[in-house]
Amino acid sequence: MQVLEFGCGTGSTAIIHADYVKYIRAIDISVNMIAIAKGKAEAQNINNVTFEQLTIEELDVEDCTYDAVLGLSILHLLENKKYAIAKVYRMLKPGGIFVSSTAFLGDNIAWFKIIAPIGRFLGVFPLFKVFKVEELVTSLTDAGFAIDYKWQPGKNKAVFIVAKKGDSFNS
Ligand SMILES: C[S@@+](CC[C@H](N)C(=O)[O-])C[C@H]1O[C@@H](n2cnc3c(N)ncnc32)[C@H](O)[C@@H]1O
Repeated sequence: MQVLEFGCGTGSTAIIHADYVKYIRAIDISVNMIAIAKGKAEAQNINNVTFEQLTIEELDVEDCTYDAVLGLSILHLLENKKYAIAKVYRMLKPGGIFVSSTAFLGDNIAWFKIIAPIGRFLGVFPLFKVFKVEELVTSLTDAGFAIDYKWQPGKNKAVFIVAKKGDSFNS
């Protein structure tokens, strides 16, 4: 598999998966995260993962490039998750999968939806969006994905979704 991971953080997930895929391109907005990730990959002699300081918004790749895209603990941090999801859909080959995990879901912490913008306005919270699992599912299916697998290990836990792009170019 040719894989993209966006919001890779310090690279742990990419490094764990390196042995099982052909190649992983891992990107993160944070130069510090990327520096740590590069150091870890070098220390472990991993040669099929590249780490780049780049946002998902800036990323420019041809349509149908990747077999799998990972976006773990990131969609709730984006200003426009629908834009990112649509971009991921385009980047995937037909039959490709988008694996995401998403926290701060509004189903469990509705009050947070009110507090979050206030905290952000006051500069005490970073950007994060609060939305419900169903809203996330709708964003994925609106973009053209079929939900292959959805798992939420418990109340107040993140939701893990494997979304699949159809096998034909028109699906
Ligand atoms: C909560 S961490 C998750 C890191 C890793 N995926 C994990 O599951 O451990 C979110 C990461 O997304 C990065 N990030 C935030 N906004 C981003 C964007 N627009 N494009 C790329 N990376 C972004 C942050 O720098 C951070 O490393």
